[in-house]
Amino acid sequence: MAPTDLKQYSLAEVSQHNKPDDLWMVIHEKVYDVTKFLHEHPGGEEVLIEYAGKEATAEFDDVGHSTDAKEQMKQFLVGELIEADRKKKTSAGLTINQRTALIAGSAVAIGAGLAMIFKASSKK
Ligand code: HEM
Repeated sequence: MAPTDLKQYSLAEVSQHNKPDDLWMVIHEKVYDVTKFLHEHPGGEEVLIEYAGKEATAEFDDVGHSTDAKEQMKQFLVGELIEADRKKKTSAGLTINQRTALIAGSAVAIGAGLAMIFKASSKK
């Protein structure tokens, strides 16, 4: 199935499926129905229940799930998040927060560089 054929869901719709016997979640803009997987999840059902009906991308990535896990999740795919509910991306594919962090980090690096040059030249 091409990605564009996926059924589109809003976060509000996903949030309706927030019970252990009807459990959906959003990971990387895709919607997964993990109801049947709950008891089989090697990381336990508690963590999945915690993110029932919610966005769990950061948490999923933080665990560093294996390639096997990523293969496995495909069978639970039921759709994708509607455009409007996806995190806003900048043209470089970074989220706004990542971009802000990058700019702030660069500014600090340049500032530190200038300070070092200034220190070195004032020693003379
Ligand atoms: C469709 C979604 C998911 C699938 C298919 C999945 C699958 C797996 C698999 C196969 C493992 C065993 C280790 C590995 O192969 O990486 C695992 C471990 C784990 N998962 Fe998931 N997982 C999913 C979602 C999540 C989410 C949303 C969370 C957290 C909010 C989570 C938290 C964990 C934790 C804490 C472990 C244990 C890691 C460890 O023992 O070192 N998982 N998961």
